[in-house]
Amino acid sequence: MDSTAREKWLTLPLFIAFLSAVLYLFQILILENLIVGNTEVKVKRKPHLPLRFNSDGTFKILQVADMHYGNGIVTRCRDVLPSEFEFCSDLNTTQFLRRVIKAEKPDLIVFTGDNIFGTSAADAAESLVRAFRPALESGIPWAAILGNHDQESSMNREELMSFMSLMDYSLSQINPSMGDSVDGVERSTVAIDGFGNYDLGVQGAFGSDLANTSILNLFFLDSGDRATVNGVRTYGWIKESQLHWLRSSSKGLKGSEWDQEPQNANVLASVPALAFFHIPIPEIRQLWYKKFVGQFQEAVACSVVNSGVLSTFVSMGDVKAVFIGHDHTNDFCGEIDGIWFCYGGGFGYHGYGKAGWPRRARIILAELGKGEKAWKGVKRIKTWKCLDDENLRKIDEQVLWH
Ligand SMILES: *[C@@H]1O[C@H](CO)[C@@H](O)[C@H](O)[C@H]1NC(C)=O
Ligand SMILES: *[C@@H]1O[C@H](CO)[C@@H](O)[C@H](O)[C@H]1NC(C)=O
Repeated sequence: MDSTAREKWLTLPLFIAFLSAVLYLFQILILENLIVGNTEVKVKRKPHLPLRFNSDGTFKILQVADMHYGNGIVTRCRDVLPSEFEFCSDLNTTQFLRRVIKAEKPDLIVFTGDNIFGTSAADAAESLVRAFRPALESGIPWAAILGNHDQESSMNREELMSFMSLMDYSLSQINPSMGDSVDGVERSTVAIDGFGNYDLGVQGAFGSDLANTSILNLFFLDSGDRATVNGVRTYGWIKESQLHWLRSSSKGLKGSEWDQEPQNANVLASVPALAFFHIPIPEIRQLWYKKFVGQFQEAVACSVVNSGVLSTFVSMGDVKAVFIGHDHTNDFCGEIDGIWFCYGGGFGYHGYGKAGWPRRARIILAELGKGEKAWKGVKRIKTWKCLDDENLRKIDEQVLWH
């Protein structure tokens, strides 16, 4: 064997070894990509927490009431002008959500129920993914609760809340976290009615004394779906177990050392709160005879049961405004016993509405007071509505609390 032949004999195995090594690495890369790709789909993209006031001293919430999402492009619009009907579907609801997010740049999006329209949604999971897609794409934290229609297709209320809590950037929770105590009783042993009762705190601006303290508390409640009371079919209501939890959580959202200092007790005792649920309470009917801002165009479709939600809020003292949905063509705010109750006004095109009366969204803006060197606590809470017209016209701006 001459030297060149020997070299060939040596290079061939080397070449094969080299080739298999490359193939092996390539295979690992592909597999890893597949696995990583898979986990990317499964692992929830977490919202940036805690919720916090911006450096300009504001925190803005977009309320989306009653999307009534069905199956997308095949789901037709209800109550639009005859000229609008042909090219109108759930995609118009999606388009409106994208536009209003882009225009208002909220810090939190709150969906106050009837997010999907059960009877028209073939598959609840698919309908939820489609309905919330613009929120997920925006990367903005969002929270949702249930209405009376969400559970009408393939998921029950617990499954819906569970699914929504696992979606990207969602802050939705099934119920108060286990393990924390309420009145010294472990929460895991406290039975609470419904699914989607939870609270979220918004902390003070960076650089302020209140940077590690919740200075705006947000309560989310499940107002149920339907019930029969003494043979009468009626809507759901907020139960005593939920009100009990609410009373215990009120002013209980404290965390930092600053919160433990006695001289700060006054600030903490005056931390305002907002509440969100779907079905109006009976007292809202009284507003017909009083002053309100916005439009009162249909009867308040509440439960025949009055479980004392208003008196609970009054005794808590921190809830300054309550945001509801359910009656799509009501979009007013009215004050009862010092607490504002505001309708979102129907958002979705597949929900009933009023032809020629634009679908709408509500904006809630909380503003901090300015101290000498840094931001202080919440000074003012304002609200207005955005119409789904060409310019997303803003109407009915008002101060709810200051
Ligand atoms: C629905 O969306 C289509 C397509 O963008 C648009 O042409 C139509 O005007 C929209 N309809 C309504 C009622 O907004
Ligand atoms: C808030 O917490 C951060 C991190 O723990 C700390 O550096 C900062 O001093 C705290 N600010 C206040 C006002 O307590």
